[in-house]
Amino acid sequence: MARRKLIAGNWKMNMTREAAVALIKELIPLVQTEESDVALCVPAIDIIPCVDAVQNTNIKIGAQNMYFEEKGAFTGEIAPDMLTSTGVEYVILGHSERRGYFAETDETVNKKVLKAFEHGLTPIICCGESLEQRQQGITLDLIRMQIKIAFGSVDAENAKKAVVAYEPIWAIGTGVTASTEQAQEVCKGIRDCLAELYGSEVAEEIRILYGGSVSASNAADLFAQSDIDGGLVGGASLKADFGKIVNYK
Ligand code: 13P
Repeated sequence: MARRKLIAGNWKMNMTREAAVALIKELIPLVQTEESDVALCVPAIDIIPCVDAVQNTNIKIGAQNMYFEEKGAFTGEIAPDMLTSTGVEYVILGHSERRGYFAETDETVNKKVLKAFEHGLTPIICCGESLEQRQQGITLDLIRMQIKIAFGSVDAENAKKAVVAYEPIWAIGTGVTASTEQAQEVCKGIRDCLAELYGSEVAEEIRILYGGSVSASNAADLFAQSDIDGGLVGGASLKADFGKIVNYK
């Protein structure tokens, strides 16, 4: 089965409301394609104007985080139904910046993944190793653990709909991209791990993205790898270059 590519932007903590809408308008004509799905994961406060701005286009809007409780005394957090009520389809979960700066753990990522599925949201589940971990030779062990915990109690029907993003921490925002071989090796390792959990038929359906200094010049090589089904793009999704990445062929 040919998996449909997904090219997703992660704007991180950038773009005021006005700037967000202006950038969406600039990107709409540049990211038109029949071949891939296109999403932009924007800051929570920009979601509503961005969902409005992408009406009748091929762009879907995603969130960058979500809490795992339904509602209540969780100051500053965003509940799943707050996202779905805006028309959001995707939510990034377990980004390394959230793990590193905001103490997210594999266990909280798993709770969020389960909650996202309960609400019909598509989680983009992030995993990735630090440079030190890569140098220690534990990349695949670590990634397999992140994946197994993130997918804990997720059934096969939901697992099929998940998106995984492999983002080596040393490649994020550094301009140093993983080589196509390194990226393919880990993405294949992730698919093998998912096949152990769910069988190869399910694993073949799950989209696995690469993220970390994806640019207009390296996207085509990365996305041509057999286990890489698109990208999660940070810095380059904040400019017109994102259009070139979407139309990478
Ligand atoms: P950069 O593309 O800026 O390296 O960021 C990658 C990333 O973290 C996307 O989630």
